Amino acid sequence: MTMNNKVEIFDTTLRDGEQVPGCQLSTEEKITIARELELLGVDVIEAGFPISSPGDFLSVIGISRAVRDVIVCGLTRAKEEDIDVAAEALRYAKRGRIHTGIGSSDVHIKHKFRSTREQVLEQGVAAVKYAKAKGFEVEFYAEDAGRADLDFLVQMTQAVISAGADVVNIPDTTGYCLPHLYGKRIQYLYDYVSNIDKARISVHCHNDLGMATANTMEGIIHGARQAEVTINGIGERAGNTSLEEVVMTIKTHQDLGLYTNIKTERIYGISQLVSNMMRMPIQPNKAIVGKNAFSHSSGIHQDGFLKHAENYEIINPADVGVGCSSILLTARSGRAALKHRLEILGFKIEGDELNNVYENFLILADEKKQIGDNELVALASSIPVLV
Ligand code: KIV
Ligand code: ZN
Repeated sequence: MTMNNKVEIFDTTLRDGEQVPGCQLSTEEKITIARELELLGVDVIEAGFPISSPGDFLSVIGISRAVRDVIVCGLTRAKEEDIDVAAEALRYAKRGRIHTGIGSSDVHIKHKFRSTREQVLEQGVAAVKYAKAKGFEVEFYAEDAGRADLDFLVQMTQAVISAGADVVNIPDTTGYCLPHLYGKRIQYLYDYVSNIDKARISVHCHNDLGMATANTMEGIIHGARQAEVTINGIGERAGNTSLEEVVMTIKTHQDLGLYTNIKTERIYGISQLVSNMMRMPIQPNKAIVGKNAFSHSSGIHQDGFLKHAENYEIINPADVGVGCSSILLTARSGRAALKHRLEILGFKIEGDELNNVYENFLILADEKKQIGDNELVALASSIPVLV
């Protein structure tokens, strides 16, 4: 496999994302989201962890039947029984992938598996061979790779590729890494894993220190060509890398020379769908999909934005399916924004008359915080027209 410029998007909203307490979905809801993910253009849907529950098993079957243009993936531990159940659940998938793996850091090896590096390596290799023999494509995850000894990670990556892994996932499971160090990890693998050209390297980052998107981008810049993400960045603890942030970073920074297959104008719709179905509100200042992501509220920004949108916007809201930018009218707004909104509402007011409306507007805005169109119309209508 030669390195190319396409970054594959592996969506794990329905597996890692759904692990959030209180966000569990029914099979029907998962199928609805999976169909939307397919339309969005993701390359892989991680549909669940089939051995974890009968419900998850059925969901993986349902999704495998419902979608055609996307790889459907099921998670397993490095155990034959997990792989058997995943293979069973994925049997209807047009293209199925088994995602198996084991811990790679000494912390996990010692305190989670109570094992040794040699034993986990052996178990990981055996799992890859077993899954491969079932006729599926295989992705291997080296859990907690962000804290693993680098030379051991090289050894593990090389061994699982030799065993047949098509993709090797290097997760920063605990969200521990700093971006430049995570990037160096990926670079180190490209420098020292002799058979790395036979597999795709995948990045899977968690957001415990708020670095998930930055780490994912560093991994991609250093050669990874699959990013594991969730819609709205949902996931356990502080969440996973958010799909919309990575996709729009790649699209906005064309200088990187990379692309994804995502139909970005569908982003806002699926973000709302996932938020509603999972009962997980989106923080207002969330990048790309937050309620304030394309709204301007201070006078200086509003004036600059009204002169030319690019003064304060690096993304056209229509590109992510948000109708248009908004100008919020608060006590921090200036005359330019007030005049603009009044014009939209049919009031052409200038000069002293505008100053007069503006003074009254500020008094009301201090009291009410945000001024809506009804209040604005009442205000403009109540000001005596100057002659
Ligand atoms: O964060 C992680 O390490 C994972 C693996 C199971 C892929 O989610
Ligand atoms: Zn994870």
